[in-house]
Amino acid sequence: MNDLFRLDGKAAIVTGGGHGIGAASTRLLQQAGAQVALLDLEPGEGAGLRIACDVTDEAALEDALARVARELGGIDILVNNAGRAIRKPAAEITRAEWQSVIDLNLTALFLGSRIAARYMRRRGGGSIVNLASIMGLSGGIFPNASYQASKGAVVNLTRALALEWAADGIRVNAVAPTFVRTALTVPVFSNPALLEAVMAHTPLGVLPEVEDIAAAVLYLAAPAARCVTGIVLPVDSGYLAR
Ligand SMILES: NC(=O)c1ccc[n+]([C@@H]2O[C@H](COP(=O)([O-])OP(=O)(O)OC[C@H]3O[C@@H](n4cnc5c(N)ncnc54)[C@H](O)[C@@H]3O)[C@@H](O)[C@H]2O)c1
Repeated sequence: MNDLFRLDGKAAIVTGGGHGIGAASTRLLQQAGAQVALLDLEPGEGAGLRIACDVTDEAALEDALARVARELGGIDILVNNAGRAIRKPAAEITRAEWQSVIDLNLTALFLGSRIAARYMRRRGGGSIVNLASIMGLSGGIFPNASYQASKGAVVNLTRALALEWAADGIRVNAVAPTFVRTALTVPVFSNPALLEAVMAHTPLGVLPEVEDIAAAVLYLAAPAARCVTGIVLPVDSGYLAR
């Protein structure tokens, strides 16, 4: 039973693993027995292989994954977690701002998945876990069009890659969190009116912590989910049930 959530002997990568949800996911995957490589602009100090990498730079991503495969013996799990938001009304966001959100949240996730899949095929399969968002499944509660567009695309890219790579034994799933207190959401949690609006959309009355999101990442990466692919798992305190 316990083996369902064990990752002993597995090599995992977490993008944006230096802070927030990525850091919590890194810790939990390590606790489950995986060797974890963390790719981040600011990889910081601590356990695991820490690689400074801007994941929007395709050549840097290619080099980083090659290094992980060399040092950890292969790649079994990729958590596409690095992401950003520029919360502005659609009429005000510049094209460059729009593009920077799409480049990180969608294009880097696609490129990372494509490179990782090459290594996973050599191991007879693997698991990719994408960080989507409830904003990829709803119109949200305040203007954030670039983020919503990017996360909506992550939802359907997850399904498309799951189908394309199922025959290779590569599972592709996503986690869709509601609001979680991290650096990304300081503008939300520090604004009482916004936080009140968020809580009005939170039937359980409690928002998840980073560890709650990491638990969903572990489930989707682990043998427990060996027959799960192409799904988007909300960890949303009931947000989407309305
Ligand atoms: N916090 C939330 O409420 C929430 C809700 C839904 C979805 N998400 C998603 O979860 C993921 C993680 O969010 P978080 O809240 O932990 O964010 P965070 O800002 O706390 O952490 C993001 C990490 O990504 C790194 N990063 C940023 N740009 C990068 C780049 N170009 N290359 C490499 N690393 C880069 C940062 O250095 C940081 O360590 C994101 O995809 C986010 O969209 C977060």
